[in-house]
Parts: sequence; structure tokens; C-alpha cells
Amino acid sequence: MTDKKLRATITGVGMYVPDKVLDNKYFESIVETNDEWITSRTGIKERRVLENGATSDLAARAVDDLLKSKNMSAEEIDLIIVSTITPDMFFPSTACVVQRKVGAKNAWGFDLSAACSGFVFGLETAASFIESGKYKKVVLVGADKMSAITDYTDRNTCILFGDAASAVLLEPTEDLSYGLQDSVLYCDGTGEDALHMLGGGSRNPATHETVDEKMHYIYQDGRAVFKVAVVGMADAAVEILERNNLKREDISFLAPHQANMRIINATRDRLGLQNDQVMVNIHKYGNTTAATIPLVVTEYYRAGKVKKGDKLVFAAFGGGYTWGAQYIVWSID
Ligand code: UT7
Repeated sequence: MTDKKLRATITGVGMYVPDKVLDNKYFESIVETNDEWITSRTGIKERRVLENGATSDLAARAVDDLLKSKNMSAEEIDLIIVSTITPDMFFPSTACVVQRKVGAKNAWGFDLSAACSGFVFGLETAASFIESGKYKKVVLVGADKMSAITDYTDRNTCILFGDAASAVLLEPTEDLSYGLQDSVLYCDGTGEDALHMLGGGSRNPATHETVDEKMHYIYQDGRAVFKVAVVGMADAAVEILERNNLKREDISFLAPHQANMRIINATRDRLGLQNDQVMVNIHKYGNTTAATIPLVVTEYYRAGKVKKGDKLVFAAFGGGYTWGAQYIVWSID
């Protein structure tokens, strides 16, 4: 890894989760399932859904929360990146909609599509803009309204997903010991068969037939994804530790993508971490795709658990397949 003159560091966080809660009991009333199965197989107890509005509403509220907590004007933002697989529409980008909604008059922006790895892919992207020296305030939002693409008659997937958004502000630091230190990122397009939404794009534009065949919903072969996710997320996390000579006791927290508690625990065990070194909120929100990592980091930071100088490892795995891990040194007091 070559040293750079600037590093990108997270200097602010924000989040938004909708009020409406769907608990496991609710799913017992709509599909053939039960709380015991959902809890033991996934760790999920509740998830949130946005009843009115789109992904940009989740994202704009998370950005507003970030700006409020920083006492910062939206006009200071240079660039907005929205990681999402549930954009408001194909175009304009959700980043443009968010730019308007928050009043970020001086920002440009774009969307990034990397499913559950959207935040880690976005962080590497946002950091590059900062490290170039050209941009000083980059807002990265992980936002997904998963309820918009969830088939609530499919028990294999409907119990897993929820809606949320979380945003981070990235700024340059000349103290290279803080901020994003390293990333390992991967994709493997052979994962398409096991996890996809086939309808609505240029391959299968919307027709009566695509609607009848439920092609506008998420399809997941859970067992197939589980097998590769367990290996991929842990391998990437081990790689980032080894590349940076980090021992398990050096790690303050692993912030893993929240898809399944069993995948999180397997990653914890591969790294040899204790339970209290692993950030978890899957029981409250389920899998919120691009939002999971910033959301759990925001909650732990706001609970006073993350301190300046803490060494964090982010790890994600998702559709594509896409996956990766990052090493970050926290710089907010
Ligand atoms: O975030 C993006 C990446 N995605 C992931 O990382 C998700 C990875 N996969 C998973 O988390 C898990 O595979 C699931 C939670 C989706 C499923 O857990 P599993 O232990 O792999 O279950 P399974 O798919 O092997 O299904 C076991 C059984 C099946 O019944 P049979 O075929 O054994 O009779 C399913 O039909 O459980 C059944 N099942 C359910 N039963 C009750 C599937 N969904 C449900 C349900 N309630 N909701």
C-alpha cells in the first residue's frame, strides 16, 4: 500500500429508519413461517418499511440528520454518492433527487449500484475523490427501500429485508493515521443466477408478462448465496487484517453487512473476535442492503461505543456477487 498525501476520513454520520415496524408475528400472518424459524435462521426480529415515499426520501432524511448533527449547510457539500439498488427511477439518478431535496446547490452526484456491497464500494469511490485533493466534502449515502422490490408472498425472501438509509461525510485529513487505510474489493458476475431482479432493465423491459412472472421482485437462492457469503466476507476480512499487520486484539469493531446472524458469527469466528468486537443491529432492521454498515456504525458511534483512534473493519457481501473489506481508523471525538 502506498502512502498518500491525503486520506479520506469519516467526519460525520446520519441515519433514517421509517417508523413502521414489521415484526416476525406479522410475517406469521402473511406467509407460512414462525418467529422461531426466522430468529434461529437469520437473527432478525423486526424490520422497518417506508409506507409513503421513495429511496430518495430515506436518503434525504439521513443526509438532513447528518447535516444537523454537524451543524453544516447543505451548500457546503461538493459531491453526493448514493449507493442503492432501489433507485427512485432509472433516471434522473437518486443522487440528483437527493441533491434537490436537501438543497445541496453546489454539489454534483451520481448513484452507485453494488447491492449489499454498495457502501464499501461507495466508500472506496468517495475516498478517491477526496484523496485526489479536488473535493473536500463528499457525502456517501447507503439507501434502499427494499420493500419496493420484495415479494410479500415469498417466505424465502420477504422476512429478510427492510428499508433504511444512512449517510457519512468524508473529508480530507493530512494525518494519515486516520481515515480509510485500505480496501479489498471484488466482484464475480457468475453470482447473477443466485441473486437478482430480472425485470425492468433493458434485458427484460416491463411488460404484462414480466409482471405476471414476478420479475420485478428480488430472487435469491438463499442456500447458494449463504455458502459463498460465509467464505467471501470472512476471506476479505482476513485479507485486510493480514495486509495491514492487524491482530485480532487490535480491532475495536468489525462492522459487518447485516444479512444473516449466522454469517456475521462465522466471520467473527474466522477472525477470532469476541462478541463485543462485532457491531450488530440485524435484529432491529433486517437486511437493509446498502444501508446496513453505515447504519450500524452510526448507532454504535451515537451510543458512545466508538472512540477516536478506534480501528474498524467493514466487511460486506452481496448481489453480483460483490464483496470486500476495509480498514478504517475512526477520527471523530
Ligand atoms: O445480503 C445479500 C446476500 N444475501 C445473503 O447473505 C443471504 C444468504 N442466505 C441466507 O441468509 C439463508 O440462506 C436464508 C436465511 C435466506 C435461508 O436460510 P437457510 O438456513 O439457508 O434455509 P434454506 O434456504 O436452506 O431453507 C431451509 C428450509 C426449506 O425447507 P425444506 O426445503 O428444507 O423443506 C425452506 O423452504 O426452510 C424453509 N424456509 C422457511 N421456513 C419457514 C424458507 N424460508 C422460510 C421461512 N419460514 N421464512
